[in-house]
Amino acid sequence: MTFTEVYTDRKNRSRQAKRPPRRGTFTAAGFLCALLLALTGLGGCGKEEEEAETDTDYTVVGFSQLGAESDWRSSNTESIQSVFTEENGYELIYENGQQKQSNQITAIRTFIQQEVDYIVLAPVTEVGWDTVLQEARDARIPVILIDRRVDTGDSTLYTAWVGSNFYLEGCKAAAWLQSFTEKAGIAAEDLHIVNIQGTIGATAQIGRTRGLREACERNGWDLLEEISGDFTQTKGKEVMESLLRKYDNINVVYCENDNEALGAIEALEAAGLAVGSDLAAGEIMVISFDGINQAAVEYLKKGKISCIVECNPLQGPKLLEVIEQLKKGETPPRYSYMEEKIFSANRSVLDVEVDGNKYPVTFMWEE
Ligand code: AHR
Repeated sequence: MTFTEVYTDRKNRSRQAKRPPRRGTFTAAGFLCALLLALTGLGGCGKEEEEAETDTDYTVVGFSQLGAESDWRSSNTESIQSVFTEENGYELIYENGQQKQSNQITAIRTFIQQEVDYIVLAPVTEVGWDTVLQEARDARIPVILIDRRVDTGDSTLYTAWVGSNFYLEGCKAAAWLQSFTEKAGIAAEDLHIVNIQGTIGATAQIGRTRGLREACERNGWDLLEEISGDFTQTKGKEVMESLLRKYDNINVVYCENDNEALGAIEALEAAGLAVGSDLAAGEIMVISFDGINQAAVEYLKKGKISCIVECNPLQGPKLLEVIEQLKKGETPPRYSYMEEKIFSANRSVLDVEVDGNKYPVTFMWEE
């Protein structure tokens, strides 16, 4: 069965969802009932009134978010919550997986029991989803992935995906470094890079790591080490400290998100090192991803972070479009990509080229 057939079949079934009662809402019927009770002192309201409170025909979406590890993640959650509102005809059940796949699997199973209309999954890592996605399919609930992807033997286990091209992001960052060093006259063998990776096995980590790794091989850059910072500021700082104890020639720190970059900069500065693009003067260059964390954007404007490749977390509107299309029995695009820019305060690189395509650099600087 294709996902459209699954949906249509599901839509045609007469089904009363076992929805959790809506919290924090006070309907007119409920209010009148309470008023009547207070005035007459009579016993409980009838079942009809009780049901009137929960009977509104909302589309119920169960959202399994992977965690709250970064500012990007918080913006992503807010973006989803801002569109799946009661005003738009939705009830959103949000579950935070705390960066654990087992928590996300439990959340999905709970959504299935609750007979939600759609499941939205932001998977923490790529593998290990087949069984639970099959369970959702057996229950005829379409699953829409956001942000990262799943690695499954049967890609029809999910209906659609909305997110970023993480490999392209990595290629853009590496292309910026290549172009910058070429213009600055820095020889390939003089680059000594460490990669503070994201959560190992997450699509964002896999794509960004691959983009840098390939560029290192192609350009003959020295990739000293790859080590996970789990996309968090605390871990970014911790691993940067350990890298500084191990190597004395690091001059480029490639961080797979802004929170790690903030942690790494903290460690570098605490060690008495200067961050910036002037490698000849001994500065250490930091390159990062996201562009949503305000502190990181301020660092970019000051030149402390040399380049940020944007990862756009505002996926709510595109996701809403996908679900609206499914509700109408239409077939949404299987993959919807977010628009993303490249930011820098350094004006030497105007654009970068990846696979024959040019991407402009947006300049941001301190006023
Ligand atoms: O999957 C997207 C990545 O996850 C973002 O770059 C990062 O900040 C987040 O934690």
